[in-house]
Amino acid sequence: VKIAFIGVGKIGQTIAYSVIFDGLASEVILYDIIPELPEKFEHELRHAMATRGLSTEVIGTNSLDDVANADIILIMAGKPRKPGMSRRDLFVDNAKIQIDLAKQLPPRNPGALYIMVANPVDMMASVFMRFSKQLTISTGDTVETMRMRSYISKKLKVPVTKVTGYVAGEHGEDAVVLWSTVKVNGKPFEEVAKGVTKEEVENYVKSIPGEIIRVMGGTTWGPATIIKDIVRAIVLNEGRVMSIATPRTYKDEIIHISVPIVVGAEIGPSLEGVLPESDKERLNKSVEDFYKVYKENLDHLLQVI
Ligand code: NAD
Ligand code: MLT
Repeated sequence: VKIAFIGVGKIGQTIAYSVIFDGLASEVILYDIIPELPEKFEHELRHAMATRGLSTEVIGTNSLDDVANADIILIMAGKPRKPGMSRRDLFVDNAKIQIDLAKQLPPRNPGALYIMVANPVDMMASVFMRFSKQLTISTGDTVETMRMRSYISKKLKVPVTKVTGYVAGEHGEDAVVLWSTVKVNGKPFEEVAKGVTKEEVENYVKSIPGEIIRVMGGTTWGPATIIKDIVRAIVLNEGRVMSIATPRTYKDEIIHISVPIVVGAEIGPSLEGVLPESDKERLNKSVEDFYKVYKENLDHLLQVI
């Protein structure tokens, strides 16, 4: 499997490392616009790979011509938010990059699956798909899902393997914990919460990335490992239920909203249909809000490009 990484800054590097060390790619292409960065990162990876005798073919390049015939293309190219910013504030700057890539990548990579990572990730996936007409998924709320599970596990002092459930909606402000799916040792969250409130869990999920960015300059190991698992589910055809955002037509646009969905060589079916009304209502509200904000941003973008 040939996997391309477009943008090898903080998150691109950690995802590439994780993908290679899980043995998921036979060939890896690292691309960035910063001169020499992909090439020097290639050396770093080779040194790390030597410890395990890994023979993955890796090339680092500043030329998009070298990004050819990839099966999976992950896009991390774009600005990260600074403390105090919302991911949505990055829309115009990062959308311009996606539009450029949407024109350049598809002719050289027929049939590739695109995985958007750059923020605001769901909207960037919609922009990329709109301009490229290529199947694009967003890493969506896989990240929130693991943040939710890890927080509940820590607060209730139970192994994280005993916490199940999903977060859906938008990656960011509009994320929705699907409480009907959250179980601890197989019991509904409410029955075992021991004073831990739903609000507290939701606050943690929404605020912790900003806190990590404030102190560490960006989130890396958490999302990278989680995003690698999306690649893993696809490459190994695991058929694992993950809360990624896939395209859907809503009103007149393609939008990306996360719901738990089976991820393997094929993506689907989605579990949205079996959610109880309480969760569905919150999810539908999130779809409406997302569409409204996306549409406003898109209209503005179409005027400035
Ligand atoms: P970073 O600044 O460390 O890296 C971004 C890289 O993109 C830089 O190396 C830059 O040169 C490169 N780049 C910019 N324009 C490019 C182009 N046209 N082609 C190729 N490369 C280009 O930032 P980061 O911390 O790695 O974050 C990158 C993006 O990923 C941000 O938008 C961030 O918000 C997002 N992110 C998303 C998640 C997620 O869960 N989906 C997690 C972490 C970061
Ligand atoms: C994350 O959730 O870690 C990423 O979307 C980066 C961010 O918070 O801006």
